Amino acid sequence: MASPPQTDPVRITVSGADDFEGWRESARNLADAGVEPARVVWTVEGSDGDLFAGEAPKPDLAPSFSVPRPFVDLAKAVVCHSDPERFALLYALLWKLRTNRQALEDRADPLVDRLERLAKEVRRDAHKMHAFVRFREVAEEDGGTRFIAWFEPDHHIVRREAGFFVRRFANMRWSILTPELSIHWDGEVVTEGPGAIRADAPDGDPLEETWKTYYASIFNPARLKVKAMTKEMPRKYWRNMPETSLVAPLIAGARARELEMIDRSAGKDGMDAAIAAERRLEPGGNLRAAWEALMTDARSCTRCELYKCGTQTVFGEGPLDARILFVGEQPGDQEDLAGRPFVGPAGQLFNSSLEQAGIDRSQTYVTNAVKHFKFEQRGKRRIHSKPDAGEIEACRWWQEQERALIKPSLTVALGATAARSLTGKTLTISRAREAPLILADGSECWVTVHPSFLLRIPEEDRRAEERTRFVSDLKRIKARSEELSTPA
Ligand code: URA
Repeated sequence: MASPPQTDPVRITVSGADDFEGWRESARNLADAGVEPARVVWTVEGSDGDLFAGEAPKPDLAPSFSVPRPFVDLAKAVVCHSDPERFALLYALLWKLRTNRQALEDRADPLVDRLERLAKEVRRDAHKMHAFVRFREVAEEDGGTRFIAWFEPDHHIVRREAGFFVRRFANMRWSILTPELSIHWDGEVVTEGPGAIRADAPDGDPLEETWKTYYASIFNPARLKVKAMTKEMPRKYWRNMPETSLVAPLIAGARARELEMIDRSAGKDGMDAAIAAERRLEPGGNLRAAWEALMTDARSCTRCELYKCGTQTVFGEGPLDARILFVGEQPGDQEDLAGRPFVGPAGQLFNSSLEQAGIDRSQTYVTNAVKHFKFEQRGKRRIHSKPDAGEIEACRWWQEQERALIKPSLTVALGATAARSLTGKTLTISRAREAPLILADGSECWVTVHPSFLLRIPEEDRRAEERTRFVSDLKRIKARSEELSTPA
């Protein structure tokens, strides 16, 4: 006779409020042991649990099923939510995935919908932390300085977001104090400490001036909507934010000043120090501040899901008075690691073609339609995958801001993705490359092929032929840009 189904509750204790690994391991074992979600009581170590719960199944070293990657990303976000049911909800979805790998795609399923909402709230909280953490400078006993910030997240995001601050302020010592835990960076390692109270963080010092300056440079009165502002920047953060005192004068038209703190960190922020220095030396004080602010904003962009895949945002680069602005598709594997556009194989072909056409790349501005690397992981390799229309549309905003600041006389679309981002239309390159298009701002857009199209042509003769055509397009572009820059 078959044994009756088990109904005893099984208690699982994860070791921390954001313990993804602990949840994952237990959830796999439970699923492999066939323990239904309704039987599992999830608790966090140190919190009250169900005293009558039974024993957890023993670890199984060979899990019998795998889950789709998007589920792992979703779960990593959801475990950071403060909803006490988060572990149970995730396990319920994992249970479904065991028999239906597509379960996550069913947006009509209330469970999927709820989990997506929790993940969104966590990302939103992370975005707020990126934007609203404010450091105060304090002297340390060894004569150095430390930057200390107080922050009250809604969710358990502090550990998850430590990497963001390490990248942004890599060459400073800093601490972020929160009620749940504190994290500290000494320039080499992140350490954790207990939670704190607001009074543990310094309250106002000369660094406030730096933050006010930074805020002044990124403030865009045209975007000011008071209702939206209080929604985006809840009042509870205002007390930590010296720049809130600036809002009135800024609305009245105060100008941007220096980006001292960002400058101090620029060299360690995914951007080579020499490039950062070079960028700072270029002409156009306010223009530069505005561009730097834009680039800084782009680093925490979450307009589409691609920010989750790549190493970093790969923003455009080049002189801000460039007459020609090139738009590629998206960063590739090497660009994603280097944080610079067109440095991999397509970039090399691009450089040599520019040289043949007599165009000095250092006098041009080079960017991409999509600023994050989209790829599929195949073994150890990250294989380029084309951005879709939604991703192009979401990222278009950055390209438009770059063009609005630089105001090139001529923009070049390298391939169909760039052409779509610039014109909003799907164009056939062979037809579009014949004559320039006029963009909404009245400037010319020249369309040509993308250099990686040339790299993919297998036949040598045809490859050489297409390369010659590409160089001849570039020569025409150079001639036209000279014509446009010559006073009539
Ligand atoms: N392809 C692109 O479109 N852009 C890059 O930066 C690199 C490859």
